[in-house]
Amino acid sequence: MSDRQNEQRDLIAIGRGFDTWEPPEIDTSVPHSARMYDYWLGGKTHFAPDRALGEAIEQAIPDIKTMARENRTFLGRAVRHLVREAGIRQFLDIGTGIPTGGNTHEVAQAEAPGSRVVYVDNDPIVLAHARALMVSGGQGETAYIHADLRRPEAILAHPALTGTLDLTEPVGLMLVAILMLLRDDEDPRGKVATLLDALPSGSHVVITHPTGDFDPEAMEAVAAKAAQGRMTIVPRTRAQVEEFFAGWELVEPGVAPVMAWRPDGEPPVDPHAAYYWAGVARKP
Ligand SMILES: C[S@@+](CC[C@H](N)C(=O)[O-])C[C@H]1O[C@@H](n2cnc3c(N)ncnc32)[C@H](O)[C@@H]1O
Repeated sequence: MSDRQNEQRDLIAIGRGFDTWEPPEIDTSVPHSARMYDYWLGGKTHFAPDRALGEAIEQAIPDIKTMARENRTFLGRAVRHLVREAGIRQFLDIGTGIPTGGNTHEVAQAEAPGSRVVYVDNDPIVLAHARALMVSGGQGETAYIHADLRRPEAILAHPALTGTLDLTEPVGLMLVAILMLLRDDEDPRGKVATLLDALPSGSHVVITHPTGDFDPEAMEAVAAKAAQGRMTIVPRTRAQVEEFFAGWELVEPGVAPVMAWRPDGEPPVDPHAAYYWAGVARKP
């Protein structure tokens, strides 16, 4: 795709004062992370190549579907924490995924009806579903921007973002199960740092990231199968995940196995049963 076409795509957004939606072109011949994740979560928006790669990965990690659900459950816990304990009322959720149960705006607005959420994803299939994310009750508001985490400046400057969020007030930045889709040479740490620098004191960032720390062989197999399917999955160590939070204060319990991050109810019997690190940090 040419630079000009890319620029035009970045202008696509849905929200108050924005409706530049057009039917997206969806390539169903190669697996996409959003659709493969939807398959694992038991959704309906996936095609044969998404299921084939999802199943190949399931051979390496038989509990992958449970792990995907644990990641999703954590997202809800983290949003509730941000609303209840940190007073966050506006969210920037990058790597939205195909709408499913417990989307960020639903969880936030159930706690605080006036919460505002800007969603960002670069997958046309998510754009096709974005209207489902636009339903806010009461005074709440949502917007959707079709854009790429690898161009954080374009996200931050987008009028659908600046028209929905007040960047002088604390923001909850959600980077949940997305950073593994960026290779090291795409500078994920620099992209995250650009986003963090733009947010005011009191903002929080929420990150989950798959890791090989709990079962290196299985995760190596996952990365290899993904590469065969032309998808990037880069597992990272706890130390590498902690680097994303540099300069921010990790809230208790720090970077932890996703199941062990402030579980609702009893602590998990085996917190290492889901191969994700999770953390939430506050900007001083
Ligand atoms: C595994 S899903 C995670 C969905 C959701 N955050 C969750 O954890 O339930 C990853 C999402 O990130 C999106 N994504 C991947 N690379 C991206 C990029 N460079 N910029 C924006 N979104 C991206 C995919 O399209 C997909 O919807």
